[in-house]
Amino acid sequence: MSEATRHVVITGAGSGIGAAVAATFTDHGDHVHLLDISTDRLDEVVSQLPEGSSTTHQVDVTDYEAVGAVISSVIAHGPIDVFVGCAGVFDGVAGVENTSRELWNRVIDINLTGTFNVIKPVASQMIEQKSGSIVLIGSIAGTRALPDGLAYDASKAGLEGMTRRLAVDLGQYGINANLVAPGVVRTGIRATSEEILGDLVPDTNVGVGTDADLMKKLIPLQRGGDPAELAATVFFLASSGAGYISGDVVHVDGGWIAA
Ligand SMILES: NC(=O)c1ccc[n+]([C@@H]2O[C@H](COP(=O)([O-])OP(=O)(O)OC[C@H]3O[C@@H](n4cnc5c(N)ncnc54)[C@H](O)[C@@H]3O)[C@@H](O)[C@H]2O)c1
Repeated sequence: MSEATRHVVITGAGSGIGAAVAATFTDHGDHVHLLDISTDRLDEVVSQLPEGSSTTHQVDVTDYEAVGAVISSVIAHGPIDVFVGCAGVFDGVAGVENTSRELWNRVIDINLTGTFNVIKPVASQMIEQKSGSIVLIGSIAGTRALPDGLAYDASKAGLEGMTRRLAVDLGQYGINANLVAPGVVRTGIRATSEEILGDLVPDTNVGVGTDADLMKKLIPLQRGGDPAELAATVFFLASSGAGYISGDVVHVDGGWIAA
């Protein structure tokens, strides 16, 4: 490992955007600590990365104690330079009438509380180091109502609030915190979410991501994003070039939010 090698913790790293983030950081010589609920998905991602560039941890981000143990084991190897929070599930476009209490609790628990569970020990470590970068993955659902469901929208708006408060609390230690808000990205999130949430979701096969005509109408660039495009933005926000950006929401959505 070179001196410039950074240690990067990524949740939801077994698939989609998290996997692309892992590939981008390792391409630049960093070491990635991959956290995901699925061992199979983690194994698949690691098989695509340079040998020795990653460490995997099967963990459910909703399990506060287990997450704490994983972060302690990461810290045993040295500082945490970057944290990227990607773990998340999609609840279809379930509105208030289709959102059961169980669906609400699971989505908030994974997307919002699950992020806090990792941030808590990671932030303590970064404060001790007096350095670090935090990048959370939100969604345009943090500001727009219709693309996703009630619990998902609330969880992503919550992450935006969390990002701003983290920027305020951690700036004095030289730590910045930002949120990347994707629009539609070509990943397997619908299948993954069905696997994790089971029958709680009324129907994940709906929404702008499954309707090419609607996508063309709503998104100025007329296409979904590639996970690598999201990863490139995350990488920039964790670089020294973005060292004076903090508390911000960066939309990577083909212009959707502007339309
Ligand atoms: N794909 C999109 O169109 C889109 C749009 C906006 C925002 N996002 C957000 O981007 C992030 C990544 O989504 P993606 O599209 O790459 O989805 P994905 O399903 O491909 O990847 C998500 C990963 O998170 C993991 N995960 C889910 N629950 C977990 C838990 N409790 N503990 C640990 N790991 C867990 C899954 O196993 C999966 O590997 C999510 O937060 C999602 O809300 C995605």
